Amino acid sequence: MKNYITHDEWCIIEDGFHPEHNVITESLMSLGNGRMGQRGNFEEKYSGKSLQGNYVAGVWFPDKTRVGWWKNGYPNYFAKVINATNWIGIDVEIDGVELDLATCEILSFRRELNMKNGTLRRICTLRLSNGHEVEIVSERFCSLAHDEAGMINYAIKPLNFAGKAKVTPYLDGDVSNRDSNHGEKFWEEVGKEVKGSEAYLTMKTKKSAWENVPQFTVTSGMRMKFYQKTKEIDPVSLPVKKEKYIGFSYELPLITGEQTIIQKYTCNLSSDNHAPEKQVETAKKYLNEIYHLGFEVLLGEHTKEWEKKWERNDIEIKGDIAAQQGIRFNIFHLQQTYTGEDARLNIGPKGFTGEKYGGVTYWDTEAYCLPFYLATADSKVARNLLIYRHNHLQKAIENAEILGFSNGAALYPMVTMNGEECHNEWEITFEEIHRNGAIAYAIHDYINYTGDKKYLSEYGLEVLIAISRFWAQRVNWSEAKCKYVMLGVTGPNEYENNVNNNWYTNLMAQWTLKYTLESIEYVKAEFPERWKELSAKLNFNADLEEDKWEHIIEEIYLPEDKERGVFLQQDGFLDKELMEVDEITEHRPINQKWSWDRILRSCFIKQADVLQGMYFLEEKFSLEQLEANFDFYEPMTVHESSLSPCVHTILACKLGRIEKAYEMYVRTARLDLDDYNNDTEDGLHITSMAGTWMAVVKGFGGMRVNKGEISFDPVLPEGWESYSFRVGIGSELKEVKVNKEGFEVVNL
Ligand code: BGC
Repeated sequence: MKNYITHDEWCIIEDGFHPEHNVITESLMSLGNGRMGQRGNFEEKYSGKSLQGNYVAGVWFPDKTRVGWWKNGYPNYFAKVINATNWIGIDVEIDGVELDLATCEILSFRRELNMKNGTLRRICTLRLSNGHEVEIVSERFCSLAHDEAGMINYAIKPLNFAGKAKVTPYLDGDVSNRDSNHGEKFWEEVGKEVKGSEAYLTMKTKKSAWENVPQFTVTSGMRMKFYQKTKEIDPVSLPVKKEKYIGFSYELPLITGEQTIIQKYTCNLSSDNHAPEKQVETAKKYLNEIYHLGFEVLLGEHTKEWEKKWERNDIEIKGDIAAQQGIRFNIFHLQQTYTGEDARLNIGPKGFTGEKYGGVTYWDTEAYCLPFYLATADSKVARNLLIYRHNHLQKAIENAEILGFSNGAALYPMVTMNGEECHNEWEITFEEIHRNGAIAYAIHDYINYTGDKKYLSEYGLEVLIAISRFWAQRVNWSEAKCKYVMLGVTGPNEYENNVNNNWYTNLMAQWTLKYTLESIEYVKAEFPERWKELSAKLNFNADLEEDKWEHIIEEIYLPEDKERGVFLQQDGFLDKELMEVDEITEHRPINQKWSWDRILRSCFIKQADVLQGMYFLEEKFSLEQLEANFDFYEPMTVHESSLSPCVHTILACKLGRIEKAYEMYVRTARLDLDDYNNDTEDGLHITSMAGTWMAVVKGFGGMRVNKGEISFDPVLPEGWESYSFRVGIGSELKEVKVNKEGFEVVNL
């Protein structure tokens, strides 16, 4: 755990440079606008530890799979949203000495992410090897109002000298992914163009071995403005051209005590949204418009967009600044990662803040993110997330076919960009099939929240039937148990693999089958024509399929220990040596300290598993059942998945264990800020941030929705004076305010 970020209500502040944590800070200070995103790297050269990252939404490359032992059914590639042209770069040399924070003396330093208006600001004073002292102030943002544009205002002030600066702003397409499987670079240059003080660089993803994989073209543009003593100046620009690189070099006189301001206006246009043959022309027009608006106007527009977002979705916590900062940090990053306007896009577990998980889609979206977007955005945003999976249905059917399933059974991928499976560890790819349950559950969640039953008939039911067909084929009848069993699976707890009868997976399979049958009845009754068409298209054999599904619903095996009153995570769970996390004497996380073998045999649980099921389907279980299971599993849970503590917060609140809930809340809300799991270097846990939001709204706020009816049952953690949040449901926006006296719900 780290503790170097200053607590503040609206800002994430690094006061004094911490080079040893620079890669973490770069993750924390990432910026984005749904269309593109980037890590909080420095503009000028930095030779210290850093992970350079600029990403363009929807632009990916099929990185050829690398595994030690190939298994039939493995995918050929892992689709990755790849590191793209670095558009923030500005190299600076002062009187012949290169400005590099790793080599010069740092006299003062402050880096600050302002979440209120989505800007990243850095102010530092530096002493160079020639004794020159200089102040650098940089500010940048990825515009929400113009979502293909990013702007930088970079100021140099000599403090004890007058001299010359050589400044080289550039666009660098010669970038790579640190996690590239075969050390391959993914981009090739299409062309570059210089026109006055404008430059354009067009890069294209390399042709891959797979015909069906699209190639993407990204055109980045830049244009510069300079000011001295508040007056615009027009220094001579010399183009600097290298392979995959275009820059300008400027010589600027520096006046003691005066700022020289360098403004860099940039754009990044992708062939996903623009015709590639006209991309440069389009970029020119786009950049021209941005450039003429100027930094202040653009910042004003951007700030307004953020004001709207906060007005709608802020959560205010009084009396606990760490908790306040934590929740805003989570909401901020969620909002700048996914805006929901484009059904082709989704939410990668790290968003645009790092390379891990490749920026692609996991079950996280349905299980964690959907509730956030349901309550905080127009319902079309959540609908788009569902449509994304509907669009991938055929591929999910093909994926199941590869594994030997038939008759339209669908297994959605564990990890995907275009609907194809990308994951390549058998115990997850083939076994972590519970993701199908989350995708089915999300359809229910959406309809329950919005009342949009038409969705069920038009799209949802088709997905449900395909998933149900999968479950019906994936179980088998056990003569020994006289029950349907599901063998060789991995539940949400990835710290045990290849287990039999993971309770959560079996439960979600049972639930899906039941919900699908109910949905068929509903669509038959309300949309008979559609049912006729759909059942014909799917070749649905009601007699055979429905009977079998009913039998499975009745007879599926759900392991439990009646004496303890707990459901068993899997058949063999009680054979393990049961210990509590507190008994671990070594340093944690165990996934970084223990052998995998030791982890697999231990009872320690990575993330909510049985408790995840009790959270999803809470109406099925009594409070006593919840309590018994919570008391059994919570002490064994190490929460080494970011997706875990939020579920425990919600359940602890339900049980009235507010202290425990608070402990879990802080863990989820400040997971990245305090680097609890020692992995923020890889990027932020964007999808679990939605879980943090749920921890407040569904946990402390006790919000539940039942067929479009919303209810609250709030509690106030000790130490908080008050908190408030807003949720939208139907056409209403409600504000919930909770304080020591009680709570009120205001219809806005
Ligand atoms: C979790 C998975 C999750 C993935 C991406 C893993 O560590 O165990 O449940 O889908 O991270 O967030």
